[in-house]
Amino acid sequence: MVQYSNELKEEIRSANDIVEVISQYVVLKRSGRNYFGLCPFHNEKSPSFSVSPDRQYFHCFGCHKGGDVFTFISEIEKVSFKESVEILAERANIQLPTTQNEAFNAKQYLKDRMFKINIETAMFYHERLYKPLAKIAQDYVKQRKMDNNTLKSFKIGYSGEYNELYKMLKAKGFKDEEILATGLVNKNDRGEFIDRFRRRLMFPIMTVNGKVVAFGGRRLDNNEKMAKYINSNENLIYSKKKHLFALNIAKQSNEKKLILVEGYMDAISLHQRGVHNVVASLGTALTEEQGRLLARYAEQVILSYDSDGAGQEAILRALEILNKLGCDARVIQMEGAKDPDEYIIKYGSGRFKLLVDNAISLVEFRIKMLKNKYNLENATDKVKFLKEITKILAQVENKIEREIYIEKVAEKYNISKEAIYAEVNKLAYSKAPSKEILNRKINSSVIKTEEISEAIIKREKMILYLLINNYDEAFEKITKEITEEDFKVEINKKIFKAIVDAKDANKDNILSIVSNIEDQDLQAHISEIMVTDYEITSVEKCIEDIIIIYNKERLNNRKMEIIKKLDNTEKLTEEEIAKLETELNNIIIELAKKK
Ligand code: CTP
Ligand code: MN
Repeated sequence: MVQYSNELKEEIRSANDIVEVISQYVVLKRSGRNYFGLCPFHNEKSPSFSVSPDRQYFHCFGCHKGGDVFTFISEIEKVSFKESVEILAERANIQLPTTQNEAFNAKQYLKDRMFKINIETAMFYHERLYKPLAKIAQDYVKQRKMDNNTLKSFKIGYSGEYNELYKMLKAKGFKDEEILATGLVNKNDRGEFIDRFRRRLMFPIMTVNGKVVAFGGRRLDNNEKMAKYINSNENLIYSKKKHLFALNIAKQSNEKKLILVEGYMDAISLHQRGVHNVVASLGTALTEEQGRLLARYAEQVILSYDSDGAGQEAILRALEILNKLGCDARVIQMEGAKDPDEYIIKYGSGRFKLLVDNAISLVEFRIKMLKNKYNLENATDKVKFLKEITKILAQVENKIEREIYIEKVAEKYNISKEAIYAEVNKLAYSKAPSKEILNRKINSSVIKTEEISEAIIKREKMILYLLINNYDEAFEKITKEITEEDFKVEINKKIFKAIVDAKDANKDNILSIVSNIEDQDLQAHISEIMVTDYEITSVEKCIEDIIIIYNKERLNNRKMEIIKKLDNTEKLTEEEIAKLETELNNIIIELAKKK
């Protein structure tokens, strides 16, 4: 099924460090030899997702998903194995052989053309803004107090009339289908090509690396009948949930903090006034993909949404998404202006920066929302309020953090600290075991079929570990002494068999042979073996020890078998009895030697 050669896959694999790739999706922290983070494949509060840089494997001890970098990409992007190879080849700038996938090449070519059209379009709009015919746009820009530097750094532009863009693109040699694929021009019922954006102030939307992928266009008058903004629609190179406006600029500020605003105009305005670490979501509630992008570039994200807009629910949701990704997320409390653009124009950047410094956390935000529901002058309301906030506070897992909040809340809302502590402790210690823990227990009992001891399971895994990591040294020695039948755990047996069956394997390709077994449970199991630290100091000694154990076990089993037979001598001839006795003696001597 998979057409790419093993060598090519190896090249792609080694060009894509698993820690770097996974870091684009998960916030990883190093601990010992491995990295840990919150598993992106299931919901969890404490990290059980592990990535091994040495082995280039990931594994989640919670949901048991695992594998190599290809498995990760195919799982997270929900694509086939083959597509994951293609994605990672592109990431590493490795050319895939042209004959192997024509459809893929055609798609790559079209994408490339679309990027070219987008950049040409951005230039066209931008230059057009400076022409005399763009007076209305120039006036608007002035009225919004945008300076020329801003216009340049954001490549702000002015779109043309009717089909000006289409004509320009045709003149540059782009084909109709390429132009239509970008959505910048549409074809109407009469077969005419008409520009999507006409007479609008244009904001190019760029990738993190500054490639133009889409546009937002603002109307210039107050004609409420027209949409205030029109945006590029989703296409082959643009998915709005995966991009953030101005991230390409904001990331250059090299700040650990990123400020998230709602509007293009907010991002632009803050930037012009010296706040450079600001990005805008693209007219959507923050998505997980955008959250990951933020988490990748920032340790802390400050939400600065419109005071009327988005609504409290949207803020809550965004804070939750970011917290889940390991980001310290906070929200600005703004008064006296409807949005950050208006605020900074009115009060200046110094005061805006103060708002940033005083932004509040998810817990504080939830408490603040609650407060609005109750009248704290009223005694019954105050009791209810106390009950509700303790629920929120009890969920704060870090004890020190929890204490800080309790102190703050007690002071702010004039409630006795002791009362809060008493309530919170009641809740925090009566917690039932979480679903996660229960699931973990169920999962591990699934693997432990029958009564196979931990020691046996560990031993079998160690054999596989040795075979995969020290193939040349281990293969002969182990397979001479240990066979498929010796394995008690079915899944270990399968992997062992695959390794034995792999003809002309060697230490360089054994990993890819094993990784190509197309069975998800198997992959997960292998990854678990690969990320476990078996603390092997001498491979040779380790192999020896394992072989000794198996030989001893085999001898012991045979010993028991013979003893049983000799218990029941009626069915045996003299000769048979003598033979068994000699064997038994030999076994006893052998066993004694091994002690
Ligand atoms: N938006 C959109 N389509 C609309 C309205 C809004 O896509 N019809 C998106 C845009 O990305 C916009 C953001 O939602 O930037 C926030 O909307 P709003 O606050 O209305 O826009 P501002 O950027 O603040 O623009 P302005 O200050 O000019 O009103
Ligand atoms: Mn605005």
